[in-house]
Amino acid sequence: MNEIDELTPKKIVEKLDNYIIGQKEAKKQVAIALRNRIRRLALQEDVRRDVIPKNILMIGSTGVGKTEIARRLAEVANAPFVKVEATRFTEVGYVGKNVESMVRELVDSSVNMVKKEMMEEVKDKAQRLVEERIVEVLVPSKKRAKTQPSFMDVMQLFNQSAEYSQNKDYDENEDENLRRRREELLEKLRNGELEDVEIEVEVEEQSTPMFAGLGPELEDMGIQFGEMFQNLMPKKKKRRRMTISEARKVLEPIESEKLIDQDKLIQEGVSRAENRGIIFIDEIDKITSKGVSSGPDVSREGVQRDLLPIVEGTNVMTKYGSISTDYILFIAAGAFSEAKPSDLIPELQGRFPIRAELSDLTKEDFIRILTQPKNAILKQYQYLLETDGVRIEFTEDGVERMADIAFELNEKVENIGARRLYTVVEKVLEEVSFEAPASGEWELKIDSSYVDLRLGKVYGDEDLREYIL
Ligand SMILES: Nc1ncnc2c1ncn2[C@@H]1O[C@H](COP(=O)(O)OP(=O)(O)O)[C@@H](O)[C@H]1O
Ligand SMILES: [Mg+2]
Repeated sequence: MNEIDELTPKKIVEKLDNYIIGQKEAKKQVAIALRNRIRRLALQEDVRRDVIPKNILMIGSTGVGKTEIARRLAEVANAPFVKVEATRFTEVGYVGKNVESMVRELVDSSVNMVKKEMMEEVKDKAQRLVEERIVEVLVPSKKRAKTQPSFMDVMQLFNQSAEYSQNKDYDENEDENLRRRREELLEKLRNGELEDVEIEVEVEEQSTPMFAGLGPELEDMGIQFGEMFQNLMPKKKKRRRMTISEARKVLEPIESEKLIDQDKLIQEGVSRAENRGIIFIDEIDKITSKGVSSGPDVSREGVQRDLLPIVEGTNVMTKYGSISTDYILFIAAGAFSEAKPSDLIPELQGRFPIRAELSDLTKEDFIRILTQPKNAILKQYQYLLETDGVRIEFTEDGVERMADIAFELNEKVENIGARRLYTVVEKVLEEVSFEAPASGEWELKIDSSYVDLRLGKVYGDEDLREYIL
């Protein structure tokens, strides 16, 4: 068992609480859905097949946290995640992106995720290999010595060229000398004493895919020609001059990649996508016949029909082989202001039995969103400006004032939910962001009068605020 599988719904909600304010019901529901998927995986094969996966339909106006909840859920579960927009798909048989591509994107993201983990695992080993590679450049083995001018360069750098030129005619001590020299350099290298020394390294270059831009249709077939040929062709090598510290950055991923077991990577990537993947389908309300006022309904309903088998469980061909969508968790979301969930075709409605309704955010929620989440907007600005020596403090009434203004703008101009907070805070801090860094230490209190001072003119002018806030 994996530690993720010990995540109880309660613990999942606790983790979501770190980032999402309010929306208690929705958080609870997604937590249960995630747990149910783990429970389903634990069932015996024959029983399991009869237990239909339960997907989630999130309903709530824009900017109330639908995407954020799904994204954080994936993070908590260490699950591969993709977000797609339902309106971007076209019916199978028509030109455009068809719905199966979402599964391919999920597998890609899953393989990338596993690859990152595997690279992290081999990091130490890769670092050592890189150091060996660098030492080989600094003190090449005998057969290469003649073609390596940098050898002498470096020796001069250490003022030891004299000692070495005496040994030029490879005597018996040569091997021993080389060995000793290399050890010394390796030690210096490890102590970080040589980071600024320039060397010339041979770098394997990814040749550019010849078949890039063949269009979505061919890519949709799951065969990426560019990549296929890239693997067939010998890797081009190029000599480049750079400092040792740069060389580390360039060579480390190359060495890591060589250490990774490709078969294992793909196997694990595919399996993680199949068993833990989460696909977030946004704007699902826009593919109902009532969702949009113009254009042919047929195609939108067609997209719903295409979605059905994927959500029910089918196999999709990808460049990593066939993927089963049986256990993928689908979270669909929409504002459903005009269309209702009952405007979706009945079969699809049935596949999203969990309805999570998100409430509109209140002024108090805004205050908390500004200050409480781990990555709260105001914290972000504080950290950013601190790098420029500006310490800003937000007073209680300053925060309240910004929340007030954001809330009112949503009512008067257009309701974009918590997104409004970003435009308001950005405008309030525009002047500071422009003036920083100051010559000395700069401390600044942002209170309600400062907020008014910065926003007053814009906020008071109806035309201006629609554009600027
Ligand atoms: N309930 C919330 N708690 C914390 N942040 C939120 C909340 N709702 C929205 N936000 C913030 O507002 C922005 C937009 O939210 P998002 O989840 O994309 O909205 P939508 O419901 O339209 O998908 C995000 O940056 C998110 O962090
Ligand atoms: Mg969204």
